[in-house]
Amino acid sequence: EKSGYEHFMLKEIFEQPKSVHDTMRGRLLVEEGVIKMAGIWDHIEKFKNANRIIIIACGTSWHAGLIGEYLIEEYARIPVEVEYASEFRYRNPIITDKDVVIAISQSGETADTMAALKLAKERGAFIYGICNVVDSSIARITDAGSYTHAGPEIGVASTKAFTAQLTILSLIALKLGKHNGNLGNADFMSLIAELDAIPKKIEDVLSSTHELVQDIAKDFINATNFLYLGRGYNYPAALEGALKLKEISYIHAEGYPAAEMKHGPIALIDENMPIVIIAPKKGHYDKIVSNVQEIKARKGKVIAVVNSGDTQVSQMSDYVIEIPETSECFSPIVASVPLQLLAYYIAVYRGANVDQPRNLAKSVTVE
Ligand code: F6R
Repeated sequence: EKSGYEHFMLKEIFEQPKSVHDTMRGRLLVEEGVIKMAGIWDHIEKFKNANRIIIIACGTSWHAGLIGEYLIEEYARIPVEVEYASEFRYRNPIITDKDVVIAISQSGETADTMAALKLAKERGAFIYGICNVVDSSIARITDAGSYTHAGPEIGVASTKAFTAQLTILSLIALKLGKHNGNLGNADFMSLIAELDAIPKKIEDVLSSTHELVQDIAKDFINATNFLYLGRGYNYPAALEGALKLKEISYIHAEGYPAAEMKHGPIALIDENMPIVIIAPKKGHYDKIVSNVQEIKARKGKVIAVVNSGDTQVSQMSDYVIEIPETSECFSPIVASVPLQLLAYYIAVYRGANVDQPRNLAKSVTVE
């Protein structure tokens, strides 16, 4: 059932053109210029009148939530807060019936997320689920929701569920923005066309970077630390890249917003520090260029994820991974793919059990 792949994780990484497509299917109707999502539409008044949206999740799903915040605030102009479910539930949060709470969970069984949702429901919030497992506990207690149609995810490290979550969050943000008038028709039309093109771009990235990333991975088998940096939408993508690496390779890795580097982590940079930097053209590119200069001045080893044809960041970097250009808001979907591959190959070359990393379970049903 691994379909010829050595591990489920690699199979699932390669399934992403299809899983993202499946998640959009029947929802994103590009020709008609419509996003159809019954779960949103049936409760549109709740979203329209919401004072704010609170996203709760854990781990990788929490990273998707952070990108959801950027998407929903940019396009629908509704205030969003993103919380770790475990923190939210134990701090007596302020919740009213004017709040919409969105839980993101691949398994739909995560105990902390479930408990946070119950609390929000008791306090009168409208609760919405973004789950991958159909009929899971979270899917059942929510008032409404949208399934990610990523298919079963077996590898413990989440890959295709993450990009499917980003797809759903993109659809929700664009739909709400179109509906409440914050996103004009022309922008809406060009964004949905761009979203529709994402599966093909993932496919291109998989074929153009697969071998290159294996070569890069070989050079970092003995690394003991990694930094991942990104700005804007790609800051959460940096967090997710770092989480993938630590989970399966057991190399310590930290994700940071690139501009925060000068407030502390820069002290760590020397010739032994590999730094993965996500630097697509759209999204604070000039600022990233200066971040790379600061890193190179301290001899850090830079692995840059840039758009095809990039020159400025590429010239300064030790390793360059090119990805196709897309709208800034969708760039984490594409940029995450080579980072998944990088974590995967570093772990494989270190002899780690990538599908079942030590101490981790696929669904965390304890608090
Ligand atoms: C990371 C990973 C975990 C999960 C987290 C939440 O690769 O798999 O961090 O993302 O345990 O799980 P779900 O999404 O099932 O609630």
